[in-house]
Amino acid sequence: MMKNFEIYKYKVVEKINFLTTEQREEILKKAGYNLFNISSKYITIDLLTDSGTNTISDLQLSMMMLFDESYAGSESFERFLQATKNFCNKKYIFPVHQGRAAEKILAEIFCKENYYVISNTHFDTGFAIYKYKNSIPINLPTDYALYDNEYPFKGNINLDRLEDILKRESNKVSHIVMTITNNALGGQPVDLDNLIQAYNICKKYNKVFVIDGCRIAENAILYKKIKNLKQSIKEIIHSYTNYCDIFYMSTKKDGIAHMGGFIATDDENLVSHIRKLTILFEGFPSYGGLSGKDMEIIAQGLKEVLDEDYLEERINQVSFLGKLLEEEGIPVVKPFGGHAVFVDAQKFIPSIPPDYLVGQSLVVELYRQGGIRTVEVGTLMYAKDAIRNLVRLAIPRRTYTYNHLVYVAEVFRKIKNSKESLKGFRIISADPLVPHFTSILEPIK
Ligand code: F0G
Repeated sequence: MMKNFEIYKYKVVEKINFLTTEQREEILKKAGYNLFNISSKYITIDLLTDSGTNTISDLQLSMMMLFDESYAGSESFERFLQATKNFCNKKYIFPVHQGRAAEKILAEIFCKENYYVISNTHFDTGFAIYKYKNSIPINLPTDYALYDNEYPFKGNINLDRLEDILKRESNKVSHIVMTITNNALGGQPVDLDNLIQAYNICKKYNKVFVIDGCRIAENAILYKKIKNLKQSIKEIIHSYTNYCDIFYMSTKKDGIAHMGGFIATDDENLVSHIRKLTILFEGFPSYGGLSGKDMEIIAQGLKEVLDEDYLEERINQVSFLGKLLEEEGIPVVKPFGGHAVFVDAQKFIPSIPPDYLVGQSLVVELYRQGGIRTVEVGTLMYAKDAIRNLVRLAIPRRTYTYNHLVYVAEVFRKIKNSKESLKGFRIISADPLVPHFTSILEPIK
């Protein structure tokens, strides 16, 4: 029988706040039309991110109580170690406080000035960190990811272009990062075949191959469904992680935790380097910037994320919202991905040019009309490097019900009927490396 309801019941609740449109207009003005500047008490439905916004389970909370905060040799670390090894099948594990800390350590090791860091598509933090190190981040998505079609693996890397760059300029490439799922282009899965071929090409040119696997469990359930496989989620994850030199993960995503991350490898030549930088930047390698409580929550979360019932409901929620929007005639990226619905803002509001931040205009309108917080993934986030102008509706894990998502679709319907009046925004100030986090905007009159 189809389970068309949440597979969890409430144990702890938090009241949701509703404001009037006039109150929200005031708040938007004060926030410089940047939703990162708005207090969560003024938000009705928060779809800004699925990162660290997870609802933890009763078991995670119970395990947290067993915390051991010893600086070295902590039992919480032992449980963390066991769970992370079981999850990604690597020998050496280094905890870090979140994904970008792993990116910083890897950038310290591999990045060189004016060298390329190639990816299927970098997400914002890695992209900014590599630029900060004076490297050149390069995105090589496939053409499928750039237009409307139902190709199931829009997360893939463009193998021809990868080989071409390596053939011509191998000595200018520092390393390759595969983002699984491909967050910036729709939370889309990467095909195992594509990953293996990319790995083999990189090995031919003796390049380090890294997986950013913060949503690899979501990738695994999507892959399993597309290919109609019998294997367990854990087996599928391992068949991906077997093909990389380094696996890193922000456990704020598929760790179903609030904080954390880790770097994993089998390569003994890399271990001392990673260990040293973990000590320098994060903490002793038995905690790496995490408390024992965090490590307990992550250890339990990494077990729960392997549960197929959980993962199935997770992707069902995403496609439920996607289908509701589709029924309203809102252009969305398809097929639906693992953690979010992505709206094609440019197509939805063609009257606003990308230079007037069409995506951010939709983000602001969703808040103004419905108290919904989302994020732009386009010209504001990536400036001239933007591939598409999308708005991401990221669904926090185990947090909202189907009815909350129905409300989101209703707000979209309202916007659809009034979108001709939207004119766009211009940037007054922003840090060029991380513009979407720091920008102050003003409406175009
Ligand atoms: N890699 C990917 C693919 C991510 O989506 C993120 C974060 C990171 C790395 C960095 O991890 O936040 O723990 O430092 N993405 C969040 C998001 C912020 O909203 O998608 P972090």
